[in-house]
Amino acid sequence: MHTLVEEHMSQESELVTLDTTNVREMLSGSGYSDRAITYYIDKPNMGYLPDADQVTELTGECGDTMKVYLKLDGDRIKDAKFQVLGCPGAIAAAMAAVDLVKGKTLQESVSVNDRDIFSELQKIPDQKLHCIRLAVKTLQKAIADVRGHKEPDHQRELDH
Ligand code: FES
Repeated sequence: MHTLVEEHMSQESELVTLDTTNVREMLSGSGYSDRAITYYIDKPNMGYLPDADQVTELTGECGDTMKVYLKLDGDRIKDAKFQVLGCPGAIAAAMAAVDLVKGKTLQESVSVNDRDIFSELQKIPDQKLHCIRLAVKTLQKAIADVRGHKEPDHQRELDH
């Protein structure tokens, strides 16, 4: 026999399932692939890293904002997370961007471009391509910031 709480919880999970189905249908109707929708719903790389070596934020022309957290192991991106205040396209693009750079060197990661993320997402509506751009720009800015932080030391060495 189910307790009231269990019953309530199972009703809630039914609601969540229903919501997810509705969201999937809506996004699929707008031109998102199943893969992009899964990225948006599951948000596997959403959040922050408390011990991040680099935190970089960027706001796009549309007003949406992304913040990326990078954890480095030498020159390699050991882990990354995004916080996104934005549309499904922005969230899906940011989640895919992390999957594309995790484990790669900064040099390899800086060359991840819009096309790479687009092929990872498979399909998003044309009018959402700028959301991919925002994820790429945020990532590139973070990498430039990391390098910027490192350069003064290098510069100092050169000055001596
Ligand atoms: Fe702004 Fe998608 S509408 S990033």
